[in-house]
Amino acid sequence: MPRYDIRINGAARTIETSDPDQPLLYALRGLGLTATKFGCGLGRCGACNVLVDGQAVQSCMAPVASLEGKSVTTLEGLGTPANPHPLQAAFIAAQVPQCGYCTSGVIISAAALLGEKPKPSEAEIRTALDGNLCRCGTHVRVVRAVLAASG
Ligand code: FES
Repeated sequence: MPRYDIRINGAARTIETSDPDQPLLYALRGLGLTATKFGCGLGRCGACNVLVDGQAVQSCMAPVASLEGKSVTTLEGLGTPANPHPLQAAFIAAQVPQCGYCTSGVIISAAALLGEKPKPSEAEIRTALDGNLCRCGTHVRVVRAVLAASG
């Protein structure tokens, strides 16, 4: 069975699958990394976003075979409850989540933005998060939290 070596949250992992087109999202959840969510499965909602070499990528659209040798970071890899990433701390402080389903993908997109631009403008935050849908309508608090994390 084909094997793919992928660095996931800083650890070398090998994913074995007979289907090289298996979405990374399924492989991650199979590894117990369930922070990454299945929303639309069509590349339209951003709930499944992860970092691939620092860039936000929709894991529902990324075949496992395309990740060979790359570095993937999920929400679990950003921080822990005891040592949260500044974005995670800011999202908690701003009480961003309502249902929370989209939050992992939103934080990942924001982390990609801050990785490229540590002090983005509000307009840049809105543009960077344009691909992340939130049906609860938390967008105002999301922007506030990202601004706080970058300040
Ligand atoms: Fe991947 Fe919606 S589940 S973009």
